[in-house]
Amino acid sequence: MSKRYTITAALPYTNGPIHIGHLAGVYVPADIYSRYLRLTGNDVAFICGSDEHGVPITIKAKKEGVTPQDIVDKYHAVIKQSFEDFGISFDNYSRTSAKIHHNTASEFFKTLYDKNEFVEEVSEQLYDAEANQFLADRFVTGTCPKCGFEEAYGDQCENCGTSHNATDLINPKSAITGNVPTLKETKHWFLPLNKHEQFLKEWILEGHKKDWKPNVYGQVKSWIDDGLRPRAVTRDLDWGIPVPVEGGEGKVLYVWFDAPIGYISATKEWAEREGKNWEDYWKDENTSLIHFIGKDNIVFHCIIFPAMLKAEGSYILPENVPANEFLNLEGNKLSTSKNWAVWLPDYLQDFPNQQDVLRYALTANAPESKDNDFTWKDFQARNNNELVAIFGNFINRVVVLTNKYYNGVVPEPSDLSLVDQETLAAVKAYPHVISSSIERYRFREASQELMNLARLGNKYLADEEPWKTIKTDEERTKTVMFVALQIASALGVLSEPFLPFTSKKLDTILAVSSSGVENSWIDISEKNILLPAGHTIGKAELLFSKIEDKTIQLQLDKLEASKKANEAANKTIEPQKDEITFDDFTKLDIRVGTILEAEKMPKTKKLLVLKVDTGIDTRTIVSGIAESFKPEDVIGKRVSVLVNLAPRKLRGVESQGMILMTENAQGDLVFVNPDTSTPLSAGDGVSNGLKIS
Ligand code: MF3
Ligand code: ZN
Repeated sequence: MSKRYTITAALPYTNGPIHIGHLAGVYVPADIYSRYLRLTGNDVAFICGSDEHGVPITIKAKKEGVTPQDIVDKYHAVIKQSFEDFGISFDNYSRTSAKIHHNTASEFFKTLYDKNEFVEEVSEQLYDAEANQFLADRFVTGTCPKCGFEEAYGDQCENCGTSHNATDLINPKSAITGNVPTLKETKHWFLPLNKHEQFLKEWILEGHKKDWKPNVYGQVKSWIDDGLRPRAVTRDLDWGIPVPVEGGEGKVLYVWFDAPIGYISATKEWAEREGKNWEDYWKDENTSLIHFIGKDNIVFHCIIFPAMLKAEGSYILPENVPANEFLNLEGNKLSTSKNWAVWLPDYLQDFPNQQDVLRYALTANAPESKDNDFTWKDFQARNNNELVAIFGNFINRVVVLTNKYYNGVVPEPSDLSLVDQETLAAVKAYPHVISSSIERYRFREASQELMNLARLGNKYLADEEPWKTIKTDEERTKTVMFVALQIASALGVLSEPFLPFTSKKLDTILAVSSSGVENSWIDISEKNILLPAGHTIGKAELLFSKIEDKTIQLQLDKLEASKKANEAANKTIEPQKDEITFDDFTKLDIRVGTILEAEKMPKTKKLLVLKVDTGIDTRTIVSGIAESFKPEDVIGKRVSVLVNLAPRKLRGVESQGMILMTENAQGDLVFVNPDTSTPLSAGDGVSNGLKIS
């Protein structure tokens, strides 16, 4: 049954390009869902756009000495291009600096204002006197009142996801000057969430207990259980949408007030262009509104925005908010500032025309119910072992053999064997199986079912061996190739939501759309024949190609380089320790020693057990340098040793001294070597040229 859907994907902040985390968490699942709904005959508006207000953009502009508008113009173009490149099939990609959005958001605010849905209040807010600026949102950091995370922002803690008021932060600090803020009175408009508490409880806690994802439901419940309070929806900033009511001069709408309204403005813009009525997509109870977001956006989409829509009164509410958890990269949190990411423009440069590989790897390993890790090894394995070895291999064999045996013409089958019948029946079940996963927002599962269909095809060919029967039984071979071609055709249709570029290629290879034998999703279940005998297919073309180890190594090297650069940039010089006296100093007995033996301490990562000739004696020293040096590299080295340190047992071995180490400019551990040009021997004391034995 055809239905109307409004599918939204979180509007990305326009202060940098997007990376694999964005794609995996929000845009690929939203795209799979939208493509699937279109293929199954629904009326879909798939909506997104750039989120161009908010403090991070102002901060970035200041840092680069340009205007916020310059920043958003630059990244809006970059981000929009990435979405197009990766086949994210938005019906409209708008931006919140567009006039239509400013108008829509202003109107929305005025409506709530006129309906007395706001509480107007003068209160004390955090203020940085030196910067002459109120400190809201990302202009202030401090300790999260809920989880204790020390780098929480003024409006939200990125660690636990809670959204709070800036004045709730413990030990707040200005992000502009580092100063401790003072308090200053200012007037703002607050959305009294407490007033909507009862409704939210009934609507979500009672109404969506079963159908919303547990991670989403759980976060909402904990929020509501903590008690809802009024939230300011205006700010004392100059970048944003001006507050359109009396007394609002010099103030703008809070970015999280205007951004979700961006979904509405983007729908309006699209409807105007397409000659549709936007209200059908936002005000008709029969329309399903679905928000695709990452987990840090849950409270805004499940509590604040619905409260705004409810207060306005004429809008529908989301039917579901299938938020994903976070994707990590090679074991670490994705981070823009630390450049720990795979940026989409970079990926495309290194893997041209391989968008589907990334889409597939991210879907097969999507962070649907818990945080997940993207590794380049897994990416390579998904490509080589699944896309190449199963999907691509099956299609290639079918197409090559059809061309070779029958000049590309689909052969006429004779009697179907039991295996043939079972195989075709199994194919017919796939649309339902995949639909059921997609409709429950289980995209990983859905992608694996698609791969299972390709597996089925591969197994069928391997069992029936047309390359052998061609020599003995022409009729049987025709039947087998006919069945295999039906499977290939089903794959062409069912892969579209996941692998849109591949699906298109497959269309060309099988010459379907051009010849009018196109099939829909449901046709795969309902029709007995997808590719009729007599239809001529096109030439074989490789769908996927193997990714070599060295290609993967290059990516790992890139990450390693970014880690190194980061460490170097973040290296802080430790402050000087408390003063000591000359007497303290002379207590240290530092000698030149020679390492005679070295071996790893079993079951430890860091420790080497050394035998050192100190000149006085040969003694054992346990040193924490195993991560930087191999035992064989240190044997024979002349080093400085503190010999009168009280012995200490490490893992049962008594260490009788300490080797002096320092770090070089690259942050690597190095020995404090006695100057090797002077002939010192073991036992000589060293310290700034002073002999201190
Ligand atoms: N820009 C926000 C983020 O990246 C998401 C905004 S979603 C919207 O986290 F609802 F506000 F549009
Ligand atoms: Zn927190």
